[in-house]
Amino acid sequence: MEKFVVHGPCSLNGEVTISGAKNAAVAILPATLLVKGKCHLENVPDISDIRAYVEILEALGSKITHISKNELIIDNSNVNSAIASSELTSKFRASYYLLGSLLGRFDKVQISLPGGCNLGARPIDQHIKILEKLGATVEVRNGNVYASRKDTLKGAPIFLDMVSVGATMNAILAATLAEGTTVIENVAKEPHIVDLANFLNSMGAKIKGAGTDTIKITGVKELHQVSSYSIIPDQIETGTFMVAAAVTKGDVLIKNCIPKHMEPITAKLLEAGATVEEHADSIRVKMDKKPNAFTVKTSPYPGFPTDMQPQICILLAMSNGTGMIVENIWESRFQYTDELTKMGADISAHGTTAIVKGVDKLYSAPIRAHDLRAGAAMIIAGLVAEGNTEVYDIYHILRGYEDITSKFASLGANIEYVTDEEK
Ligand code: UD1
Repeated sequence: MEKFVVHGPCSLNGEVTISGAKNAAVAILPATLLVKGKCHLENVPDISDIRAYVEILEALGSKITHISKNELIIDNSNVNSAIASSELTSKFRASYYLLGSLLGRFDKVQISLPGGCNLGARPIDQHIKILEKLGATVEVRNGNVYASRKDTLKGAPIFLDMVSVGATMNAILAATLAEGTTVIENVAKEPHIVDLANFLNSMGAKIKGAGTDTIKITGVKELHQVSSYSIIPDQIETGTFMVAAAVTKGDVLIKNCIPKHMEPITAKLLEAGATVEEHADSIRVKMDKKPNAFTVKTSPYPGFPTDMQPQICILLAMSNGTGMIVENIWESRFQYTDELTKMGADISAHGTTAIVKGVDKLYSAPIRAHDLRAGAAMIIAGLVAEGNTEVYDIYHILRGYEDITSKFASLGANIEYVTDEEK
């Protein structure tokens, strides 16, 4: 069994460089299927979700050349299958983007129902509704999703019942090569949605309004290959290091990030008493005192991201008062709080709300990464805690954080990766 052993406590100091955005990359890789040619992608994060996507694409017939660990050339000239490997697609959430992208190219598509972090119910009704509005027939049976179309997809007006990142991405993917105009309202505005639209527009798509509540897509007959496209920096990785710097009373310059994307997190760190300096493409976070308590409520962008909720909880757990977290997106996102309680945190979580009373110290304990972002929070807790914290189920963390141990090591942390074989 593999685990991280986090040697605490420590204060993070120095510089760290952020990788490409996972949630943009997992949409852009399948988006390349819409072009019968080559796409040259830069700033692709080297994480296990991307390695899985590369395998899925290769199984469909993509030819993928690794120029370096963060630079790929994907040649989809000879993709000849629209049945994605069930073993791989069932493992992670973002495999549902294959529905929209493959349906742009093929009449019949089959994928497994997507897996991903266990954050509570994760329905795909909005994804299905979108494809049906565009003229596809969609069926879910035996753990698979079957989507087909008799003719080219046809543009249509679509109103999403709730703001969904994945459904917005899938609508963009499916409508790009559809005939006519698609107007999608009540869409998500996350930076990765704008990045997907920019990528597709760089190949000749006609997508307007990404980053606002309404996206208008005028279908085009085909896309042309793109010579080079660089994926945006990861908002959540940036936020994770911002919180880690503050809670360890450190001083960290976080490079290759977009400060505008970080505003909801910056606002909470300022409330906590940290100093946050914003530069053109970097952020410096400094903290030299116990954090003030605050209230945080998750909501779609530009609100506070649910994917930063577990990390910010560590700041409250170490605060000088009582804070509150309200989780508005995922029903089971507080499972990780039991792990923090084992370390001495004082958290009472019921339903959508957690009350967090600050304590003076956390103490090491064997703890689990319940999901990707909770796993990052467990590492931050280990950095603060007295002693050696063993973090299990770290495969969740490796899905979304590139070189996490060496990045923390460059800031003065000591996190060991241990497997049974090494014992
Ligand atoms: C994406 C992110 C995930 C993040 C989430 C919210 C990726 C790969 N994952 O997930 O890390 O936590 O956005 O920022 O980008 N919903 C429905 N029906 C649907 C779709 C969604 O009811 O068809 C609900 C969900 O249950 C949830 C809410 O809508 O309560 C938002 O989900 P959504 O934005 O779709 O999340 P994902 O795209 O799955």
